[in-house]
Amino acid sequence: MKSPKLIPPHGGALVDRALRGSLREAAREKAQTLPCIPLSRMNLADLEMIAIGAYSPLTGFMRSDDYTRVVAEMRLADGLVWPVPVTLAVSERQASALKPGDEVALCEGSRPLAIMVVDEIYPYHKHHEAREVYRTTDEAHPGVARIYAQGDFLLGGDFWLFDWPTATAAEFPEIRYTPAQTRQMFAERGWRRVVGFQTRNPIHRAHEYIQKTALEIVDGLLLHPLVGETKKDDIPADVRIASYRAVLAAYYPKDRVVLGVFPAAMRYAGPREAIMHALARKNYGCTHFIVGRDHAGVGNYYGTYDAQRIFDEFPPEDIGITPLFFEHAFYCRKCQAVVTAKTCPHGQEDWVYLSGTQVREMLRRGEPLPVEFTRPEVSEVLIEGLKHHNT
Ligand code: ADX
Repeated sequence: MKSPKLIPPHGGALVDRALRGSLREAAREKAQTLPCIPLSRMNLADLEMIAIGAYSPLTGFMRSDDYTRVVAEMRLADGLVWPVPVTLAVSERQASALKPGDEVALCEGSRPLAIMVVDEIYPYHKHHEAREVYRTTDEAHPGVARIYAQGDFLLGGDFWLFDWPTATAAEFPEIRYTPAQTRQMFAERGWRRVVGFQTRNPIHRAHEYIQKTALEIVDGLLLHPLVGETKKDDIPADVRIASYRAVLAAYYPKDRVVLGVFPAAMRYAGPREAIMHALARKNYGCTHFIVGRDHAGVGNYYGTYDAQRIFDEFPPEDIGITPLFFEHAFYCRKCQAVVTAKTCPHGQEDWVYLSGTQVREMLRRGEPLPVEFTRPEVSEVLIEGLKHHNT
């Protein structure tokens, strides 16, 4: 049987910036002689995302022409849609020691991982980036705080990676599929239409409802929890993954789901990050992508459906992957089902809704969550898992 044709990656070709064989050995040796640029946790996540092609067509950290147009127009210099800067910030002291054309070693601590050719060293406006990308200049926003805390200059240039960040091998290696791997898995399964699901939270009934509703109209589901850096009060990734494993084992057909991890860091950029999440899932081979309520949001910075509306700013073919929008879903005691305001005629008094903060507080007290909100198997895993973390 001929395997189905997969969706093209963003920009047309899947990027692979990882060296192998003798080239890898030579780069590793050379890097020892180069100035070391230590990377932040977010930079390390971006490094992996770029190297594996999850951020295709990016081949390095952004130069000023890409950066400027991304911030202003959500497009790269060549016009391709790209909503969020992927940059490497350094201090003025580090910047002043470099000139265009220099090679540097990108390092985790003092361990070199990649060689980058510095094409450009450029200043940027932090408030401007915050206002355009995050729609706020409030330093209480975790993504904005990260910009304010980083260096005042950006290094732009392509890199080649020869060693992986520690997290790559240490965290969920058995399900850390690259885009090339998930594409192959989808082809082997004969899936033509695959829906991707991004999450940074433990699974609850509303997640399950929107995933399964989407699954009704496609061939397979890529469950793709983000495992890069998240804010301190989010539930740790190992506990979240355990919750997914528990619910998958009991309530999902094995042959319709791939559970993989998404190594990116959370930026909490709401609408713009929803576009980035969608483009990255296209690179993993998904044809559809779920965007529910307040996707990638934090606090009250974004309207509940802003992350859906932003897709209307682009011709669908410029995005390439089809977004599937879902209303806020919750359990209704009268319907005895998960519903939305679109499908349920009852009122607030029949609806079971818990905020993220309420959930975290209950779990911290060791209280099981209401079964209407979360499957009992998940509550158990969360309470047990959180005992091992000081959250
Ligand atoms: S996110 O930061 O990764 O977006 P979360 O894990 O809470 O956070 O959400 C994962 C996806 O499910 C997002 O698309 C989000 O919009 C959607 N979602 C989460 N909870 C609900 C809900 N109760 N109703 C509808 N969609 C939801």
